[in-house]
Amino acid sequence: MAPVDPHSYTDGANPVVSHAALAFYLDFAASTIHASALLTLSAPHSGDLLLDTRALAVDSASTVADPPEPIPFSLAATPDPVLGSALTLTLPPGTTSFRLTFSTSPAASALQWLAPPQTASAQPFVFSQCQSIHTRSIFPCHDTPAARITFSLLLNVPTQLSAVAAARHVARRDPLPSDHRGACEDEMWCAPGRIVEEFQMEQSVPPYLFAFAAGGIGFRDLGPRTRVYAEGGDKVLDEAAREFAGVEEMVKVGEGLFGPYEWERFDLLVLPPSFPYGGMENPRMVFLTPTVIKGDAAGAQVVAHELAHSWTGNLITNKTNEDFWLNEGFTTYAERRIVEVVQGEERAALNMGIGWRGLNRMMERFKDNLEFTKLKPKMAGIDPDDVYSEVPYEKGFQFLWRIERQIGRPAFDEFLKKYIATFKFQSIDTETFLEFLKTNIPGIENQIDLRLWVEGTGIPPDAMEPDSATYKKICSLAAEFKSGKLPSEDEVADWSGQEWELYLENLPTDVEASQVTALDERYKLSESRDYEVKVAFLQLAIPTGCKCYFDEVEKCLKQVGRMKYLRPLYSSLAKCSSEERMLAQRIFSEAQEFYHPIARSVAETILSKHS
Ligand code: BES
Ligand code: ZN
Repeated sequence: MAPVDPHSYTDGANPVVSHAALAFYLDFAASTIHASALLTLSAPHSGDLLLDTRALAVDSASTVADPPEPIPFSLAATPDPVLGSALTLTLPPGTTSFRLTFSTSPAASALQWLAPPQTASAQPFVFSQCQSIHTRSIFPCHDTPAARITFSLLLNVPTQLSAVAAARHVARRDPLPSDHRGACEDEMWCAPGRIVEEFQMEQSVPPYLFAFAAGGIGFRDLGPRTRVYAEGGDKVLDEAAREFAGVEEMVKVGEGLFGPYEWERFDLLVLPPSFPYGGMENPRMVFLTPTVIKGDAAGAQVVAHELAHSWTGNLITNKTNEDFWLNEGFTTYAERRIVEVVQGEERAALNMGIGWRGLNRMMERFKDNLEFTKLKPKMAGIDPDDVYSEVPYEKGFQFLWRIERQIGRPAFDEFLKKYIATFKFQSIDTETFLEFLKTNIPGIENQIDLRLWVEGTGIPPDAMEPDSATYKKICSLAAEFKSGKLPSEDEVADWSGQEWELYLENLPTDVEASQVTALDERYKLSESRDYEVKVAFLQLAIPTGCKCYFDEVEKCLKQVGRMKYLRPLYSSLAKCSSEERMLAQRIFSEAQEFYHPIARSVAETILSKHS
């Protein structure tokens, strides 16, 4: 056994699945997918082959011969809490492809099924979120970014729904009996009232980028290769189209900085409010939380980030989650370069400042678990969702920014373009990056302590706070708060959400309830439509013991399932007195149905630690 990834049963000594032909019958009434997968290996293989699964019911495995021969298989009886259950197939000699039929569980960790009363379109809705290790709850696969795949996908849905996927849309057409390869009975697949949406992904992607959604979804074109999709009708679509009007321009900016955009289309899908992230960089179709639509173009930062992944993450991918910073650190750097061109240097510096605060906060969160302050932490036995943090983003950003400062921007830009062109469509590790760095920038290891950056804990001494007038002004206003001074109307006149976020996150944490309420009376932050502001404020207010914001906290936890908000709110409540803990438990028991399974599990972990 040659493990390639602590989060997968993939055996590096064996071939891997390189193509998957998938047929999914979406059963909304049962929150289940009945599926078949025709899997093709990178080389012929005989004997045992291990695949990752989680909570899948595997019905059959067979050869592609005519007639098909059954393939012996076994599914581990007790799932590993992090990895799930290995599926062991015993392949006949010279096997290059084989077929599986299986069904997902209603509790599949990647999928959220919403009933019509829970959606804006009053139609059922389902969407996937696979990063980091949830693809295995949809289909058996080598669920490691080290093994890239191409795929075809048939989604069989009720005719009143539309389906989208992070792949090229081929056709919307009637179902054919020859389509499904045993996913379900012919009569079910071809029943009246069903339609097939067909997709192809010809570029190889890591399995965590597999993504689809189905529901009452409409769209608006934004540009020649950009479109925004959402459910909820004309009003929502018009608002989204306005918010994202600058996206085509942004893609061009990205191309100028990082080289050609290789994915043909850059579409956006705005999900229901329970989407657990701000954005997810699914190729050709980024998934977004509706909370980025604020009417003030602030969604641009999240879009810039997910767009940046088209180069750093989707073209060049981390080999395992231990190298996650290669995805997120590079993308945070690239995001800020795009923001700098589109929104200016001050805005980019403000984002860096928010990031700097976040990084410092993480040092506090992980003070008893310094491993997770490392750029490359050891992840064996660790669920990536439990240790998700700003460290790979912001320490990664700082590392790259440090290199930029050392060699100058022109040389760094050239290095970045060469890095992308060299490793595109590959999955690499930190060591490969360091080798490439040392080869292309000779002597860099004598100028920067690369080992300290990659292996050390904490924040290296040569990391740097951004240097900008707006940033410094906001930090000094925040420092004055301690002595009772609130910012004046004049001082905040041109503040948008990000200025407030930075201000609030820089306030001392040991403030009095009376100070917090005074601030809120003047600026109504607890009722802000901008969740970044609202949550930053509530996070400040909860530890003061002030009960007057319980209602706002409850509303927030019940309206939005984005984990960036759930984590700090549940954690702050759980760390307070028993009254706050009970409140958190009650809210969670009432809200959990609305959360995506990943968010539910993360909230549960937080609450159980403090119960
Ligand atoms: N790829 C991440 C989201 C993610 C990370 C999902 C790990 C699952 C596991 C995405 O690109 C991201 O970083 N989103 C941020 C956006 C922000 C940094 C602008 C988010 O969701 O907050
Ligand atoms: Zn990201």
